Amino acid sequence: MPNKILETNNSVSAIQKGTADKTTVDKNEMKKAPLHKLFVSALKDIYYAENAILEALEKMQEAATTEELKEAFEDHHLQTQKHVKRLEKVFKLIDEKPEKKECKAIKGIIEEGEEVIKSTENGSATRDAALIIAAQKVEHYEIAAYGGLAQLAVTMGHDKAADLLARTLQEEEDTDSHLTDIAETSINFDAEQED
Ligand SMILES: [Fe+2]
Repeated sequence: MPNKILETNNSVSAIQKGTADKTTVDKNEMKKAPLHKLFVSALKDIYYAENAILEALEKMQEAATTEELKEAFEDHHLQTQKHVKRLEKVFKLIDEKPEKKECKAIKGIIEEGEEVIKSTENGSATRDAALIIAAQKVEHYEIAAYGGLAQLAVTMGHDKAADLLARTLQEEEDTDSHLTDIAETSINFDAEQED
């Protein structure tokens, strides 16, 4: 591709002339790579999702019946604020601006969560059983997203970004298993007793 060669030559002559340092050239080359573009696009998707989840968790906390589940949502709300901050750091590490890209998948999952609130009785254990399933659908979406992003970061040599993404991935996994514990130790049994 002649254009590509031309760009490379320009970069080389820029270094020779001292008008651009090697880091700038490397960054510009990096930003053109299709995998880098995919990585940034996926980051914008999860950045949108995390912000949408912050709002959803507030509603879910309010709608939950048991203190245990309310607390689980409150804790995860605090964690989600950290996840947003970490994503902003990841954008910075790869020299990109934090931007949101509408994520239809998470919108749909959150809408489902709103529907279960409408279709279950206020103050019931069945409400909590339904909210746990809805919240776990959110967690599984995030686990898939962060798992893929962390791996891409490793592949492209963004070690610090990979570490941040892996930490969030671990927290999403812990939240998911905590929700399973709550459901299986009490809430599902209480819901079964309701008529
Ligand atoms: Fe998160």
